[in-house]
Amino acid sequence: MIKKISTLFFSPTGTTSKITKQISKAFNLPKSHFNLSLKKLRTKHQNLSFNSDELVIIGVPVYAGRIPAFLEEYFSKIMGNNTPAIFIVVYGNRDYDDALLELKELFEKRGFIGIAAGAFIGEHSYTSRVATNRPDIDDLAKAFIFGKNIKKRLGLISEMDASSLKVKGNYPYKERIAVPLISPETTEACKSCGICAEVCPTEAISFTDFNTIKAEDCIRCHSCVKNCPEEAKIFTHDMIRNITQKLITNFSLPKKEVELFM
Ligand SMILES: Cc1cc2nc3c(=O)[nH]c(=O)nc-3n(C[C@H](O)[C@H](O)[C@H](O)COP(=O)(O)O)c2cc1C
Repeated sequence: MIKKISTLFFSPTGTTSKITKQISKAFNLPKSHFNLSLKKLRTKHQNLSFNSDELVIIGVPVYAGRIPAFLEEYFSKIMGNNTPAIFIVVYGNRDYDDALLELKELFEKRGFIGIAAGAFIGEHSYTSRVATNRPDIDDLAKAFIFGKNIKKRLGLISEMDASSLKVKGNYPYKERIAVPLISPETTEACKSCGICAEVCPTEAISFTDFNTIKAEDCIRCHSCVKNCPEEAKIFTHDMIRNITQKLITNFSLPKKEVELFM
């Protein structure tokens, strides 16, 4: 009998958070939301553990076909105890490659039992011209119905059924790409409001001088870019510009559809 729902998500530009919370709305149970960031890893939420009477929904964005690398450190602090879990990846209309398989395997090793999984689409972090405004109303409706269907099945799931969850993905996982140190520039439009430092999940932006960014800590998540009210943070590096152009040319269309696994 499930008594409580928790969502755990990493969501620098907000799309993964929308989907993960939307699925949780299908359950009329007490909820806790854990918005993961390196900042919190260093301060609160040091260790999290969950029991078998809790359902956990875990959501991450796809970075280069994998789960964001730095999250592995965070995830090593999270333990389940035969805890049922729903695994969610959100990607920017290119592909999610091996990210969902990686997420499922990582958490199943940590005491969670995968009962369902899904790959959703979110506006691309690099540009609003790819997967524009997604998740849209249809995506959110699908997320809610997905939650309802899982709820119906919950009482019927035995551990044996649960461990048979299959998701798309391949071995070995897509190789991680080594990227040079790249961080955003700050233009003269900056009004020093500090939102960028506030929303940076790795604390790469100085809280005293918002122009100072530790490139070695920047994960190019674009949280500062998308959250700046003055559009004062921009990536000018050729590599980011070229990738963005290729994304617009090759992955704006066709619109990818949500894939669900139960
Ligand atoms: C560094 C980086 C790498 C990304 N790699 C991919 C990718 O391989 N495939 C894809 O379709 N989208 C990719 N995206 C786009 C994000 O997965 C997508 O925009 C997602 O909705 C962002 O989630 P968030 O809004 O929760 O931050 C990437 C984004 C970033 C910042």
